[in-house]
Amino acid sequence: SKYPQNFPENFLWGGATAANQIEGAWNLDGKGLTTAEVVAKAENRKKMSMDAVNEAVLATAIADQTAINYPKRRGIDFYHHYAEDIKLFAEMGFKVFRFSIAWARIFPNGDDQHPNEAGLKFYDQVLDELEKYQIEPLITLSHYEMPLALTKKYNGWADRRTIAAFTNYTKTVFKRYGKRVKYWLTFNEINTGTWGFHATGALDQDSTKNEQLQLRYQALHHQLIASALATKQLHQLCPMSKMGCMLARMQTYPATPNPVDVQAAQVADQKNLFFTDVQARGEYPNFMNRYFAEHGIKITMHPTDQQILAANPVDFVSFSYYMTTVTQANQDGTAVGNMATGGRNPYLQESAWGWQIDPIGLRITLNEMWDRYQKPLFVVENGLGALDKLVNGKIHDIYRINYLRQHIQQMKEAISDGVHLMGYTMWGPIDLISFSTSEMSKRYGFIYVDQDDQGNGSLRRIRKDSFYWYQKVIDSNGENL
Ligand code: BG6
Repeated sequence: SKYPQNFPENFLWGGATAANQIEGAWNLDGKGLTTAEVVAKAENRKKMSMDAVNEAVLATAIADQTAINYPKRRGIDFYHHYAEDIKLFAEMGFKVFRFSIAWARIFPNGDDQHPNEAGLKFYDQVLDELEKYQIEPLITLSHYEMPLALTKKYNGWADRRTIAAFTNYTKTVFKRYGKRVKYWLTFNEINTGTWGFHATGALDQDSTKNEQLQLRYQALHHQLIASALATKQLHQLCPMSKMGCMLARMQTYPATPNPVDVQAAQVADQKNLFFTDVQARGEYPNFMNRYFAEHGIKITMHPTDQQILAANPVDFVSFSYYMTTVTQANQDGTAVGNMATGGRNPYLQESAWGWQIDPIGLRITLNEMWDRYQKPLFVVENGLGALDKLVNGKIHDIYRINYLRQHIQQMKEAISDGVHLMGYTMWGPIDLISFSTSEMSKRYGFIYVDQDDQGNGSLRRIRKDSFYWYQKVIDSNGENL
């Protein structure tokens, strides 16, 4: 046949995690406190409350020296279990493992003069272990955390000086690990920086909505510059390695065929794609300049910024995919209901956390992203958060298998459509602390971890039914679903 029908031979199957959701060991071996470790567990699982951080919340968190209320301080103790966990990933046949480096393990205050050798050593050991099983590392440089000291000193990414601190950290890790790591990502789900603290480390709770947007887009501009500079460093220091950007892709559909709804949906989509547009194409798209002007947002740029962006686009485009949304126009033609919790789609089912499940949307997304960027794509997150039940030592998670199977089928369709797809790292191959609610009971894994929301449990690792299923999927290169 003239078109591809199977997953390519070198397809990178694996799983994805983040330091603050797995490592624990928050105050060991010289590590500094991070922004993720001051966010308490949410009271309401349908309400993402990770950004309700202000000065008072911060002071309380810093005074609390335990991990009881702050689950991201304990994670699943990957810090002490990494060898066992990676062995399990190898047993499933992983070709790639995505994880992030905690900046504060390397530079406890973000801008210390010398890196913390104990922190660097930890990731050496993780890489040694991966090498043992020939699993490629895919490293995220910044996954929803930064040294809290930089929030206090600069208000995080709101201040341009954070760029220099970050690029000093990236230079350090490229020099240390560059030869052994082919694939890197700069900022996890960079677009969610428009939501606030978790991604930018900047406090803005007391300002008006417009002031918030002003601050957040400025902080994000600094991240976009830092991302381009890190890409430049990588290309200079490790010419064999590839840099990717990372977007929380949320395809949105118009609520009706009414052109005002279609147009509002297009604008909502553009605001989502804006970030990858800058990172992959090297310039601010005009629709965004218009949006900023119309909302009184002024991005302060240095004279060389545009050139930095233009000269250093990423090598590949990665994204997370969990759901799609629906957009409806207001009477004035602007969008309503384009957020994760907004417009409901009557044709889709949702998870226990209200996330709308849409496998075909993944095929649509892959096609659109490929058309737009013509750069290799990488699905670096996709998965189902569910309440698993341990029955006689087993977890029969057929719902998770169904979810993943349907999404993998649609990836295969997209490959047949001509999309260049490098790989698939499902989210949370091992149960971990939820990003949005800090619950343990929102489980994604093929591997169950015996720990509850309060942190009680043996931390024992147990293979779920989906573990054996994914093993077959990888072994057959996506044929045996
Ligand atoms: C993505 C994040 O938003 O989705 C991950 O990059 C996160 O860090 C994942 O864990 C799933 O979200 P949650 O809130 O269910 O953990």
